[in-house]
Amino acid sequence: MFDRIARVYDLMNQVMTAGMHHRWRERAVEISGVGPGGRALDVATGTGDLALALARRVGPDGEVVGMDFSEEMLSLARRKQAGGRVSFEWGNALELAYADDSFDAATVGFGARNFADLDAGLAEMARVVRPGGRVVVLEITTPTRPPLSLFFRVWFDRVVPLLGRVAGDPDAYEYLPSSVRRFPDPAGLGARLAAAGLVDVRWLLTGGGIIAIHSGRVPA
Ligand SMILES: C[S@@+](CC[C@H](N)C(=O)[O-])C[C@H]1O[C@@H](n2cnc3c(N)ncnc32)[C@H](O)[C@@H]1O
Repeated sequence: MFDRIARVYDLMNQVMTAGMHHRWRERAVEISGVGPGGRALDVATGTGDLALALARRVGPDGEVVGMDFSEEMLSLARRKQAGGRVSFEWGNALELAYADDSFDAATVGFGARNFADLDAGLAEMARVVRPGGRVVVLEITTPTRPPLSLFFRVWFDRVVPLLGRVAGDPDAYEYLPSSVRRFPDPAGLGARLAAAGLVDVRWLLTGGGIIAIHSGRVPA
């Protein structure tokens, strides 16, 4: 499915979020705590926007790896970067091909919702981050309070599938709202991060309550 939607993915993100997704990614990068010279992993990187935001943060002395299992997404990500600073690599988030403690932080943007096994994916991210480093999950969440809950229902259940039809892939953009609905709520996801062995778990809601950015620290 992700190979199929790769070509329309960036445009759909831009339209569905009115361009706000860039700001959410910058926030996720800030929360990851990586700085100049750092080493970061972006899991399920897709077309690479979060990995590229991490690369801007770590600068020329840092290193960023963006991994995904969709070759089409990866080839678009590779085309986006001029200097080739991010290494975009094929892999499975549920079995990361990286050594323990090998990154200062690991992020996942709009990807955890798609993991076939959420706990395995979170445990893998925690495994590859060094003690003291952070795991960050940027994800869509279902607002519970009106009026946003009402807007969200109309937007996600009616407008997004319609946009998907216009973009030529109705199935993928019907899958999106259903994947959000079955994903844990913010407190539930916080508990899953803690179950993956992370401490100091916290989250913030942004985008009027439809976006959650969770983070947890790998214990010393
Ligand atoms: C909705 S896209 C998000 C892309 C990107 N992170 C972003 O912020 O826009 C979800 C991505 O997760 C990837 N993905 C889902 N499960 C995966 C897994 N087990 N291993 C690697 N990539 C995975 C898909 O291929 C897809 O590119």
